[in-house]
Amino acid sequence: MHSIRFQFISFITGLLLILLILLNTYPITSSRDAVFEEKRSSLDGQAATLAASLSGLERPSRESVAEVLRFLDLSGFSRIVVTDADGLVIYDTQPGTVGKQTDLEDVKLALTGKTVFRSAFRDAAFSSSVVTPMSNQGFLTGAVYLYEYDAERAQIILGFQHRIRAASLTIGGAALAVAMVFVIMMVRRLRELTESMRVVAGGDYAYRHEIRGRDEISELGQEFNLLTERLQTNEEQRRRFVSDASHELKTPLASIRLLSDSIMLNQDMDPRMAKEFMGDISHEVQRLQRTTEKLLDLSRLDDRALPPAEPVDVKKAVLEAIGPLKPLAEEKGVTIETELQEGCVVMAGSEDLFHIIFNLAENAIKYNVPQGSVKLTLSQDSEQVRLTVSDTGIGIPEEDRPHVFSRFYRVDKARSREAGGSGLGLSIVHDTVQARGGTITVSQNTPRGSVFTVSFPRTKAEETEA
Ligand SMILES: Nc1ncnc2c1ncn2[C@@H]1O[C@H](COP(=O)(O)OP(=O)(O)OP(=O)(O)O)[C@@H](O)[C@H]1O
Ligand SMILES: [Mg+2]
Repeated sequence: MHSIRFQFISFITGLLLILLILLNTYPITSSRDAVFEEKRSSLDGQAATLAASLSGLERPSRESVAEVLRFLDLSGFSRIVVTDADGLVIYDTQPGTVGKQTDLEDVKLALTGKTVFRSAFRDAAFSSSVVTPMSNQGFLTGAVYLYEYDAERAQIILGFQHRIRAASLTIGGAALAVAMVFVIMMVRRLRELTESMRVVAGGDYAYRHEIRGRDEISELGQEFNLLTERLQTNEEQRRRFVSDASHELKTPLASIRLLSDSIMLNQDMDPRMAKEFMGDISHEVQRLQRTTEKLLDLSRLDDRALPPAEPVDVKKAVLEAIGPLKPLAEEKGVTIETELQEGCVVMAGSEDLFHIIFNLAENAIKYNVPQGSVKLTLSQDSEQVRLTVSDTGIGIPEEDRPHVFSRFYRVDKARSREAGGSGLGLSIVHDTVQARGGTITVSQNTPRGSVFTVSFPRTKAEETEA
């Protein structure tokens, strides 16, 4: 694995190197080219002037050339050579060549009628030369050679080059240092975040990452903290649930054990008493069964592996759910009234609405008073389908209302348990309603009792047809 630091620093270094190379070559080569250009025009001009001046001479000799040169200011040149049309040197500022064939290659070229210019930047100087042919009345009469050695201009360019190099190295170094500090800080913060993740992954859900700054990394840290908080809540809920569930199962199991032990140990127990004990055992077993069934329902809801939603006619579901509750209502002396609007359809699982209505109606009957009543009302408007289950029963004290949807919560523990309640019914209702995109609320009925209101978003016509 390449660390971010390595990648980033390599990238910055590469970028800086390219910049440095460009900065150190481009201005130098272009200013050199500018000097070459300038040399060419000045040398060309001067050679042409000299050639023109010399072409007036009838038979140029060393002395007559020297005479002409004295009038022209050519002091800047380190060498001046004049030859005749055959390449024989007539005049040379360097001694020992006059009267001999010239060995300058460019002169030979000039004698074919061409002007030859050369300039080079070598050994901290510009060396430039030009050779131009001389002619008289259209006839080639010889060649003029000028050579210039310019260290001054070269020095300026070299100085310029040094300054650019120094400045760009300083700036490049500083940029690299700043980038380095920046990336080290970044990487440290990422490492801290990784460290926090390890701590939390190790099971310490109470741990919170320390947030610094207000950038994307802090945002990441904040999201991570939110995630940890969710994990912590989930973990707490899970623990509480497991302990509540074991407690719920423990109590009936303990009484079953007690009852069966007394039957076993008491050999000559009165058969009637034994039967009564067996009845109690059966009652407890039924409770256990109910509880475990509801626990399974809940875990199915937790799995989120919900069966696909389909249009469900709520009126039909209400009638189906209250059917099996009629004997219980009769036994309790409670009457059930309904006021159900036709055509109310919601998207839900086929079993979901049965569970919701059954549990609410069962509670409304169970926690009612003799001669009491239960009323189920179904209606819809343009937005929502609303089902209310109201009763004239014992009601739920205001302080308990926020908790009734929690698992294992019972208002009157003794009374509810006596009624065979596990305290899971309403939490199943709540989770189911929520899983299907609805809401549930509880309030007080007037003059007494409770009202549970379930709302679902209304199914659009096209969804129903689909
Ligand atoms: N209509 C109601 N009137 C008065 N109290 C109610 C009503 N509905 C629920 N409660 C109270 O809320 C508690 C929780 O109800 P829930 O349906 O979750 O559990 P349960 O009825 O005790 O058991 P289960 O439904 O699992 O058999 C009940 O124990 C009861 O005290
Ligand atoms: Mg219930």
